[in-house]
Amino acid sequence: MKVGVLTSGGDSPGMNAAIRAIVRFGVLHDCQIVGIHGGYQGILDKEYEELSSRTVAHLIHRGGTCLTTGRSEEFKTEEGLRRAAELLDSIDVDGLVAIGGDGTMRGLYHLQEHWGGRAVGLPGTIDNDVYGTDYSIGFDTAVNNALDAIDKIRDTAESYSRVFLVEVMGRHAGAIALHVGIASGASAILLPETPTDLDKIAARIIEGRKAGKSSSIVIVAEGDEAGNASAIGEKLSERIGERCRVSVLGYIQRGGNPTRMDRILASRLGARAIECLKAGIDGVMLGEIDGEIAETPFKETWTKEKKLDQWMLELIAPLST
Ligand code: F6P
Repeated sequence: MKVGVLTSGGDSPGMNAAIRAIVRFGVLHDCQIVGIHGGYQGILDKEYEELSSRTVAHLIHRGGTCLTTGRSEEFKTEEGLRRAAELLDSIDVDGLVAIGGDGTMRGLYHLQEHWGGRAVGLPGTIDNDVYGTDYSIGFDTAVNNALDAIDKIRDTAESYSRVFLVEVMGRHAGAIALHVGIASGASAILLPETPTDLDKIAARIIEGRKAGKSSSIVIVAEGDEAGNASAIGEKLSERIGERCRVSVLGYIQRGGNPTRMDRILASRLGARAIECLKAGIDGVMLGEIDGEIAETPFKETWTKEKKLDQWMLELIAPLST
């Protein structure tokens, strides 16, 4: 079997571990593995590279993706999809594994409307906003990257008795903000999934000061409906009568050595992807739910809502008193 592998959309730590598992497990199971550089556009631009077990040496611990990634407008067109299908057939690829977020799963779904090959998706995004898995590859590393930065910010916030707003990534999802907010002991966590009441947050900070809580950390998900951390910081500063400081963590969340959890998740799903393709199982994204590998039809990965943990949402206020 000749299997193509690509990474698409925002890169995430652990993608390399998944590629490594696909190649090494595939080679052991009589597969030829073709790396496709630059995401779906790489199919159209014929950016192909034969991958061997040696090619993927010294990768498991490295962030980013050795296949590079991208977003392709051409691939979203009927003509682009048809051309991609023809090009995959022209190099005798009969199986494809794509690693990415919900946009990547849409790509596989629409590609299979034009292509007769087998396709399996792996959830690779720091946002953890893809239905069909408890965690996506890269989420745990991104949360730990953010947590490390916030612990550092806490040092100066406590030394200077200041209020800090810290903006984290997540596009339209609040998973990173919720997890890092609980883990860092934030005073408030602003999420796209929940209404933001700045008067209430200001009152909580003021009450905290009266009770001796001299500094506060407020986590802001970049997609919050109240705006970004800078805009919210100005409004909050007016309400509490002092200038809040703002840190936007940005792209450091997307890099660095993947954690143990991401390396193992990526390795398990990568190897399973080969097993699925060999067994004729396709049209699904693989994930891990309650410790078991799950198979979710592509369309459900973006049509079904990935809900945040309700108990964690309820913990925000009581744990930040
Ligand atoms: O989807 C992953 C992500 O890092 C989001 O959290 C973020 O909003 C987006 O990518 C940034 O996109 P780009 O890398 O294209 O600037």
